[in-house]
Amino acid sequence: MNASRAYPSGPSEPIEQLVQALLARMTLAEKVGQMCQRNASEGHPPDYLGADLRAGQVGAVLNVVEVDAVNELQRIAVEESRLGIPLLVGRDVIHGFRTVMPLPLGQAASWNPGLVRECARIAAREAAGAGINWTFAPMIDIARDPRWGRIAESFGEDVFLASRLAAAAVTGFQGEDLAAPGSLAACAKHFAGYGAAESGRDYATTSIPEVELRNVYFPPFQAAIEAGVRTLMPSFCELNGVPCSGNEFLLRDVLRGEWGFDGVVVSDWDSVRQLKVHGLTADDRASALAAVTAGLDLEMAGDAYRNHLASLVESGAVEEGLLDQAVAGILRLKFELGLFENPYTDPARLPPLLDDEALATAKQAAAQSAVLLQNRNGVLPLKAGRLQAVAVIGPLADAPHEQLGTWTFDGSAADAVTPRQAIEALAGPEVQLRFAAAMANSRSSAGPGFDEAVAAARDSDVALLFLGEEAILSGEAHSRAEIGLPGAQEELVRRVREAGRPVVAVVMAGRPLTLAGIVDQVDALLFAWHPGTMGGPALAELLFGVQSPSGKLPVTFPRMVGQVPIYYSQKNTGKPPTPDQVVHIDDIDTHAPQTSIGMTAFHLDAGYRPLFPFGFGLSYTEFHYRDIRASAPEIALGESVRISAELSNQGPVAAEEVVQLYVRDLVGSITRPVRELKGFKRLRLAPGQTVTVAFDLHTDELAFHGRDMRRVTEPGEFRAWIGGSSDTELGITFHIRGDTSS
Ligand code: NOJ
Repeated sequence: MNASRAYPSGPSEPIEQLVQALLARMTLAEKVGQMCQRNASEGHPPDYLGADLRAGQVGAVLNVVEVDAVNELQRIAVEESRLGIPLLVGRDVIHGFRTVMPLPLGQAASWNPGLVRECARIAAREAAGAGINWTFAPMIDIARDPRWGRIAESFGEDVFLASRLAAAAVTGFQGEDLAAPGSLAACAKHFAGYGAAESGRDYATTSIPEVELRNVYFPPFQAAIEAGVRTLMPSFCELNGVPCSGNEFLLRDVLRGEWGFDGVVVSDWDSVRQLKVHGLTADDRASALAAVTAGLDLEMAGDAYRNHLASLVESGAVEEGLLDQAVAGILRLKFELGLFENPYTDPARLPPLLDDEALATAKQAAAQSAVLLQNRNGVLPLKAGRLQAVAVIGPLADAPHEQLGTWTFDGSAADAVTPRQAIEALAGPEVQLRFAAAMANSRSSAGPGFDEAVAAARDSDVALLFLGEEAILSGEAHSRAEIGLPGAQEELVRRVREAGRPVVAVVMAGRPLTLAGIVDQVDALLFAWHPGTMGGPALAELLFGVQSPSGKLPVTFPRMVGQVPIYYSQKNTGKPPTPDQVVHIDDIDTHAPQTSIGMTAFHLDAGYRPLFPFGFGLSYTEFHYRDIRASAPEIALGESVRISAELSNQGPVAAEEVVQLYVRDLVGSITRPVRELKGFKRLRLAPGQTVTVAFDLHTDELAFHGRDMRRVTEPGEFRAWIGGSSDTELGITFHIRGDTSS
């Protein structure tokens, strides 16, 4: 197939000149066409979409992944339309393409930006082979509500961690050069505050004060933009009364005005027409007007732009210059992607799928994302040489589709290696594997399979229970109001416990679950999220000690759902509880005076602590922290302080640890969180090894947006902590002197 040579680009021809020259030749209808993205999964070219492509009415498509079909769409656009402008071809490449990586929330548990970048790079390479040039990822919404099904797609609750991982994912998808083979344009989504939907109900209302938007929800988007992300998608939700697709404050004032974003803003699926459903506009024409005025460049899947933009310009309601800005951004991206040079994907030179590198990365990511939450009496790792029989039990033990998780359009269950398969392979023929699924799926009731499972456990040295929720129970529009183990799984754990063997629970899920009902019933608890194609081998290696678990929670695990939202960087309140003030509901006398219990911020039935805190995760070795120091007791604004501590591996095996730095600004003109993550490092230590871990903290990194929305570092007293979890007690105080501007 011949590449189009109509628009040569190169160092001698700056993209901006090419964009403006092309724009000058476009009719109003062709400009509108560039602003329309069409779903291409409903038919085949040339019959489907062919006429619109020829007429220059389509700027982008999505959901076509068959190389010949994509090439044919490009061919019609390039060779049969008047201006020959190639197409953006989008797809939700969220956590892998054919090789499915762990869920983004799982990847976040690795606290390993390099690995997250690699997962994105491999996903991009595989997807580019299908003709895709744009992914709608990463999703970088701060997510503090595990009821929300899309928490699975997020990097968790923390501003700093999500920002670092947002940048890593963007650079992984986009590579060094967008035009190079294997690069995709990335999309930062969903701007802004989507994770704060009321009660975790997907698409529900979000109400977030501006100061919190700026301090919590915006920073990952700023980090993505600094990393060069080329596109951005607004949230489906309304934010403070204005749906994000028509939200001028977000899309024009902040994104373009303050941050200077010059990429493309694409709507979410049909979200322009939904402005009417929200009640912001009376009809589709008004929706198109609201969206284009707000700064939304490209309408995905709907037809409000297609039907109304031209007449809005002709009637004078919209200035054509507004469309020119939008179209310039779209054309710029197409030039950056090298599409004018070569819009086609050569079917004879497709990148490999599921190659050794992809599978090794998927395995490493699955291993580093698993979080060991409990390990009593060193039940893990399993001692392979001393085992005769292992019971592998539960609905997730051999469920290849389920371990892939949500948003895996292009992955295949046939490629997935399950824990059952991998344990059998790793343990070898000397160890008997007794398998009992016990339940048809995670939601099943107790049945005869339970007896089989108990028998398998009784006849084995250890019972490995693979529990959790299926892929379909999290993701978009899959929120839950209860977040315990579904079905009769808790009962299954109790029954298996009665067999009298050590019990190890491995939980695969798309969200934190409330696990208080099983922690006392199991000896070890390993939380594996949905670990992807290579989940089985990764988990087998962890269980048998080939590797030590090293994941850390990227989100707090509540005891019960009523604690939600519960996150480590909460505010202190005027009545912070201490352990001695907490009284349990069962211990309160019926006629006791109201003030007889500690009058502080806790729940009578849940206390104030989560089941497992943010940043927590155990290892097969023992890491000890001591001797925290600050390089100076006091620094001036504009200077850095070095916070360091000694970390030693006092256990029996080499292992990796994620060292975390937290800071509290003790007095602020608006109150500051009790702790904020400000740094982390993943380090490998041999047994007996001690290292000094140091973080340089500049005063700018302690800035926040205050009452007037300006970002300042306020001098005063700060407390810093270093440790392996957000509840570390190893702290030190330092001061910042100086005036209040930074
Ligand atoms: C709706 C989702 O909210 C968005 O994240 C996704 O990219 C689009 N659909 C396209 O599938």
